[in-house]
Amino acid sequence: MAHYLPLSRVARLVGQSRATIQRMIHDGEIATFDGMVDMNELLRVFPDVQWEDDGEYKRVEEIKAKAFGKRVFERTLPDKAVLAERLFELGKEFAAAKSLLLHYDEVFRFLSDKLEDVAESGGPATLDAVAGLKQWLKRELEAAPSEAERAEALLAQESVMRIMSAQVTVQPSGHEFFVEGNDTLLEAALRAGIPLDYGCSNGNCGECRARLLSGQVKKVHPHDFAFKEQDKANGAILLCSYTPVTDVVVEAHVAGAEDIPEQVIPTKVKTVERLGEHLAALHLIAPRSQRLRFLAGQHVTLSAGGAEGEYYVASCPCEDRHIELHIRQDNRSFARMVFNGLGKEDGVTISGPRGRFVMKLDSRREVVFVAWNEGFAPIKSLVQHAMSLEIASAMHLYWAAGDVGHYQDNLCRAWADALDDFTYQPLDTAPGPAAVAEAILADHSDLSHADLYAAGPEALLRALEAGALARGLSPLGWHGEIVV
Ligand code: FES
Repeated sequence: MAHYLPLSRVARLVGQSRATIQRMIHDGEIATFDGMVDMNELLRVFPDVQWEDDGEYKRVEEIKAKAFGKRVFERTLPDKAVLAERLFELGKEFAAAKSLLLHYDEVFRFLSDKLEDVAESGGPATLDAVAGLKQWLKRELEAAPSEAERAEALLAQESVMRIMSAQVTVQPSGHEFFVEGNDTLLEAALRAGIPLDYGCSNGNCGECRARLLSGQVKKVHPHDFAFKEQDKANGAILLCSYTPVTDVVVEAHVAGAEDIPEQVIPTKVKTVERLGEHLAALHLIAPRSQRLRFLAGQHVTLSAGGAEGEYYVASCPCEDRHIELHIRQDNRSFARMVFNGLGKEDGVTISGPRGRFVMKLDSRREVVFVAWNEGFAPIKSLVQHAMSLEIASAMHLYWAAGDVGHYQDNLCRAWADALDDFTYQPLDTAPGPAAVAEAILADHSDLSHADLYAAGPEALLRALEAGALARGLSPLGWHGEIVV
């Protein structure tokens, strides 16, 4: 009996990114049926994966080990009612599989009796043929199917995965993500880097309205927003109030830069981290009830005590309440404030976001990122966003730095070490923008299947754009932001 698995679950089971699995399918290394992968195909393509050593098992072991740690339960396990529903669903599947087996058993007995009848009514040749056939059948049924142990482990792991998390597919964009623990659909989508539309995030505004196309959801946070009866009948739900019980498909709007409203958010300083003599990373925390809604690559205005400055957000929108900004020590009033004693718990107001230098969410192409000095801030945010989305087939990061140095070089090297399709090349700004652009483009003779994001001085962007277009880059694949 074939057992088909969706791609996102396959990626998790084998510990690869979704983009890697998609590339393998594209290259003909994995066969699919209706966009799903058969379990036997999975066992064939990944003969070395030790299912029982993988993440979900470890998480279950961790929960068991800390069985009395209530907070671990709260963080990692779904709501009790959701858990009960998922176990019930799994139980139904188990019951269906068992009844099918019983049916096969009956068919087998019936077949044996019929063969006996045929043997009795035939001559010696028929008797021999039937005896041979019965022996073969017995041998085949008694022999353990090939790879039975690995198949069993894979099925067990997939079952655990389905109890611990549910897969969500967003239509019409086709984005997929998992919901774990007690997260709502909205929280999980944002964590996965998918900027679904929302406003208050607590059930009042109705901005996160979506339509459930298939599967079951459960309300985990009450909401004041009232739906019309017709909307309810059409499957309307609020993403900030519901969690999925089973795998679900929802129709929801993925926001672009033009959809995100200007916000004013009072934040607190978590730390001011010195990244060198003249540069600091400012880590801010937004209130639980008022997170900053932004897209990777955008910039905001920071103000505190009468000082003000415009900076790019360096963190990923998937990082919940944490916001990181890179501040160079210069004459701007906000920079002076940061280097003259802004400290933990001090208040900083963020207004914004602004800018169209954002990730193209529907592209599955490889991505080339280029940063120049603190142009690294928006690029860092974009890289992390691309990682959380798992859609780029490969990523190449170039960072040209001068006096500020490659102040988060270790992080970039860690990305390159951890990801198969990620390369990192630190460069020096000294040869100048044109020479740096030339050095980068020398690595890419054909950019017809790529997107290019660059943040730096105008001269760098001009040289990169002209060279990239000459190498086949689509004009739609070019994204440049002047950062000086
Ligand atoms: S975000 Fe306001 S109701 Fe969900």
